[in-house]
Amino acid sequence: MSTPHTALAMRGIIKSFAGNTVLADVNLSANSGEVLALLGENGAGKSTLMKILAGVHQPDAGEIFIDGKPVKIANPVDSLHHGVAMIYQELSLAPHLTVAENIFLGREPASSLGIINQKAMNEKAAALLQEYGFKLAPKAKVGQLSTAKRQLVEITRAIVEAKRVIVMDEPTSSLTSHEVEDLFRLIRDLKARGLAVIYISHRLEELDEIADQVTILRDGRAVYSGKWGAISTDEVIQHMAGRELKEIFPPRHAKIGEVKLRVSNLNRPPKFTDINFEARAGEVVGIAGLAGAGRTELVEAIYGTQPATSGEINLRGNTIQHSTPHQSVVNGLSLLTEDRKRTGLCLNLSLATNLTLANVKALLTSGMLQTKAETVAATNYIDKLHIRPPSPTKTVGRMSGGNQQKVLLGRWLFAKTQVFLLDEPTRGVDVAARSEIYREVNELAEAGAAIVMVSSDLPELLGMADRILVMRRGRMVAELKAKETTQEEILKYAAVEE
Ligand SMILES: Nc1ncnc2c1ncn2[C@@H]1O[C@H](COP(=O)(O)OP(=O)(O)OP(=O)(O)O)[C@@H](O)[C@H]1O
Ligand SMILES: [Mg+2]
Repeated sequence: MSTPHTALAMRGIIKSFAGNTVLADVNLSANSGEVLALLGENGAGKSTLMKILAGVHQPDAGEIFIDGKPVKIANPVDSLHHGVAMIYQELSLAPHLTVAENIFLGREPASSLGIINQKAMNEKAAALLQEYGFKLAPKAKVGQLSTAKRQLVEITRAIVEAKRVIVMDEPTSSLTSHEVEDLFRLIRDLKARGLAVIYISHRLEELDEIADQVTILRDGRAVYSGKWGAISTDEVIQHMAGRELKEIFPPRHAKIGEVKLRVSNLNRPPKFTDINFEARAGEVVGIAGLAGAGRTELVEAIYGTQPATSGEINLRGNTIQHSTPHQSVVNGLSLLTEDRKRTGLCLNLSLATNLTLANVKALLTSGMLQTKAETVAATNYIDKLHIRPPSPTKTVGRMSGGNQQKVLLGRWLFAKTQVFLLDEPTRGVDVAARSEIYREVNELAEAGAAIVMVSSDLPELLGMADRILVMRRGRMVAELKAKETTQEEILKYAAVEE
């Protein structure tokens, strides 16, 4: 193996949006054949810095060098031309096209007449997907795939494009452990091929396996760069947050009370079959499982987005015949969805509007919306959840990914429901903010709410849940006490024998 050399250097990068400085003189360099972990709290500027490299944004000042040569990257095509490809945090696929079409978009195999050869394209895609170990059908429409599967398509597309540098902006945020292992195998291949990999993640524990170097951003400045492992995880977090973080999982002092939600013989084959469980006041019930196990479909059925075909849902003592999302909220049940862009936020509306959307009636006086009350409510949750920037009027689509997630959570906190279904509640949320969210969840439980938490992050389930239910292929296969189980045991139940 050749000794690593600097494949990419970014020098003195400055960027502001509408007068707000987001990047203030950032330097970063990445070696060929290595993984650079790019870390920082939500809103620190990671995605913006990488979008400058990908030609999506133009810097106000600064230079970019590839293999030592200065380059101008005016648009995404330029960046591909210089061998730079990016996996975007907010997936950028075309939903009405197939998996194969998305992988080869703009580079489809064509005949001499310029006609796209569908058959060749599908075969090529199938071969790649098989090589990478991703279980995806080349002809499936991307819009119909789960978030995790779409993430795999996005990864495949970028790997095909990358020649010198590949940026992965939270590639594992909705993947489960098996898929993460597949991705890490691919990353090792990319390193062996001499690519520089820039890897953004809030799952610090996964970095030990792949990171060689680390750069930490805080408030738009690079505050630390060095070899991965040279400083402890606690020090990494300190650099990210600018303060010490006492405990990630705060203690909970909730009394477990009456049953708030009971699900009996719930079915929607082939997604899930014969599901039975209950959640009590003061309790956090975790649901584990691999992607495709039916967890999201189950909570969507309880909420009413995609109703079950048979079975019974009992909410606070009342049987719910036909649940619809609207009726659910009225009945005191809310769902935090895993795909905030598609099913959660109104991206072109303000932070305050998004935050208060599910409980607008609390803001009405004689039928009139009290904008002042809206601002007060929003400000309260901005403080509680450390939402950045702390501006009620900010357009949600312009906020960083993790902060969007906090707005969505704030919406349900403000709606003050009694039963919460949380689907991947901390997806893309930084460590410090995650701990704030856990504190909120604990407060809800302490106030007598029942919480059902679907998560692919096993340390999170072990740290937060009282009981963990494991789903496999649409069935509930185990119920474990969080205090007495381990990641290994959960995975043993979750794993599908081939
Ligand atoms: N198009 C835009 N217009 C205005 N402000 C923006 C835009 N894009 C990003 N910002 C702001 O830039 C700051 C940095 O955002 P960025 O998305 O780079 O953060 P990040 O480090 O990737 O965070 P996360 O971990 O949440 O993904 C945020 O305050 C965000 O609101
Ligand atoms: Mg980001």
